[in-house]
Amino acid sequence: MTYTIISQADTAKIALEYTQTMHSNSHTRLEFHSLCRLQDLDPGGRGFEVRRGDQIHAVFLIPTAEGPVAYRNRCPHTGVNLDWVPERFLDRCGEFIQCATHGARFRIHDGFCVSGPCQGDALESIPVRVTGGRVEIALPT
Ligand code: FES
Repeated sequence: MTYTIISQADTAKIALEYTQTMHSNSHTRLEFHSLCRLQDLDPGGRGFEVRRGDQIHAVFLIPTAEGPVAYRNRCPHTGVNLDWVPERFLDRCGEFIQCATHGARFRIHDGFCVSGPCQGDALESIPVRVTGGRVEIALPT
């Protein structure tokens, strides 16, 4: 399966240059795909659209002290993208992920919604890791 990043903050279209790697554990088999260098992650997060076959996955990364977290860029309230403004995912204080449409706020470390119309729901978390200074995610199969 070919994966291609079709948009990101400062590049309209680049080919995913990283070869798929496989990771196994006792329960799942994940295919990780490189998105960017860790040092290129802005504190406010960074969004990507990744084509996989005929599907496009909108995802975003937020850097934290414990390493980056990754979520699908979709609000559980209505399914729209979360971006406060393009490429801005956090509230003004940088404490929560915030949905631009109706202001729902989500904890950064686990995506749990603490306020707003989808309180108690959560963002869809995506497995993420850093390998050789590059941030990799595993899209659902
Ligand atoms: S669409 Fe996100 S809070 Fe309504």
